[in-house]
Amino acid sequence: MSEAAGRVGVLGGTSGIGLASAQQLVRAGHQVTIAGRDPGRLRGALATLMDQADGRTVDATDRVALDSFFEGTGGLGHLVVAVTGARGGGPFRELDLAEVLEGIEAKTLP
Ligand SMILES: NC(=O)c1ccc[n+]([C@@H]2O[C@H](COP(=O)([O-])OP(=O)(O)OC[C@H]3O[C@@H](n4cnc5c(N)ncnc54)[C@H](OP(=O)(O)O)[C@@H]3O)[C@@H](O)[C@H]2O)c1
Repeated sequence: MSEAAGRVGVLGGTSGIGLASAQQLVRAGHQVTIAGRDPGRLRGALATLMDQADGRTVDATDRVALDSFFEGTGGLGHLVVAVTGARGGGPFRELDLAEVLEGIEAKTLP
């Protein structure tokens, strides 16, 4: 990804794979905007990133909030989607079907 590619948005960038991606992107010199729902987690994540990163709270299941998030970024060159965690995973006998379905649905956001 070239630096001229524009700001990179990372939905779900406050933890796990999304945060690791944001850290790599910042180290590679990219401007990054991370997002997640929890303000405390967002603050903690931003503390691990350098000045090229900013962040916003947004719930990716909320269409209106999501539109506002994208408008607030001023335009993104790329988007990484890493929302949801291990919900719906685990030993087969212990799986909760509702959680499995929620996990699948969440992976198709936004
Ligand atoms: N970890 C792995 O080894 C692995 C391997 C293969 C695939 N994956 C997939 O990669 C994705 C991320 O996994 P992870 O392990 O990095 O999960 P994670 O550590 O739980 O991170 C999930 C991120 O998404 C945010 N998030 C969750 N729901 C959201 C919502 N509705 N709106 C906005 N942000 C939301 C979380 O912050 P908030 O809770 O504050 O919103 C957090 O920043 C999942 O789809 C997972 O299945 C993970």
